[in-house]
Amino acid sequence: QHNEFKSMIEAHALAANFYSHLLLNTVEGEEALEYLEKRGFTRESIEKYGIGWSLNDNEALSGLLKRKSFDMRDMERAGLCIMKDDGTGYFDRFRARIMFPLHDDNGNVVAFSGRILTGSKQEAKYLNSPETPIFEKSHILYNFHNARLNVRKTGKVILFEGFMDTISADRAGVTNSVAVMGTSLSDTHLLKLKRIAKDLIICCDGDDAGWEAAKRFADMATQKGLDVKIALLPGKMDPDDYITEHGGDAFREKVIGNPHSFMSFIMAYAKRSKNLSYENDVLQYIHEVLEELAKRSSPVERDLYFRQLSTVTGVSIEAINQQFIKMA
Ligand code: UTP
Ligand code: MN
Ligand code: MN
Ligand code: MN
Ligand code: MN
Repeated sequence: QHNEFKSMIEAHALAANFYSHLLLNTVEGEEALEYLEKRGFTRESIEKYGIGWSLNDNEALSGLLKRKSFDMRDMERAGLCIMKDDGTGYFDRFRARIMFPLHDDNGNVVAFSGRILTGSKQEAKYLNSPETPIFEKSHILYNFHNARLNVRKTGKVILFEGFMDTISADRAGVTNSVAVMGTSLSDTHLLKLKRIAKDLIICCDGDDAGWEAAKRFADMATQKGLDVKIALLPGKMDPDDYITEHGGDAFREKVIGNPHSFMSFIMAYAKRSKNLSYENDVLQYIHEVLEELAKRSSPVERDLYFRQLSTVTGVSIEAINQQFIKMA
């Protein structure tokens, strides 16, 4: 009598060990190891996060799983293998990629994300496990099982867009961080975080997609009742880029230690796409900021941002106030 969940989890543990061994102890893993070292990964973080390497071979893992008598249909349903078109057998989903295990809340490996080494344009940078009986994407946050204790202790959690950022932040001494896999954040994710923290600091990439994600995450988290702040990065850097360029101290003090309030973020967000020497852009800018302010009840916050809007645009506080009353 076999237990599907149990065998899927056992297979992931076996796969994670296999990939890790290939990265750390074999000639085939050398190039990947050098790549990681160049990016600033320490041996310690490679081991802590269980990072590995999948061979450029169609049946390296499938063969191992078969020899260990795993039911290959289960392995396919677990996302580790894919059935050949002619139905005669299975090949490995992950080939020639740096392997990042994804864990459930108990610390079991339940999925993988694999990064290509080269800047190939044909293939996605990261290949992820599909949704499976043990991997529900809307539930799992990268590093949740590691960060949980520190999040509880500090009452604060940092949310990144990518797991590379979490690993770098850890190296920089920020141990209460988790990451979504890309740009999808779910209410389930947020409720999980809310159970263990009051404060959420969102720290997305500095590119356009990152700013959009930060806005979306901040809206969602505010609605769920979290106390939200947004940490911004200069230029188009992501947290990992910043740490590599400016070091962990600067990241802790200037970025994570100095986050924007929601409204202060909105001021920057609305201004980003505009040229305030154009009249239309000024009107649109004021409109967008007032729209956000209308959702807030604090008269002090209103007063503060009416003043700031006035300073930035040259429009009088009275006119801004009149406009605000008309909008409400
Ligand atoms: P990024 O493109 O910001 O990756 O995507 P990154 O973390 O900076 O990675 P490096 O530094 O280039 O190696 C953020 C997240 O989006 C998901 C991954 O989960 C990644 O961590 N993603 C990105 C994918 O799933 N597939 C992709 O092709 C790209
Ligand atoms: Mn079965
Ligand atoms: Mn990004
Ligand atoms: Mn990034
Ligand atoms: Mn990056």
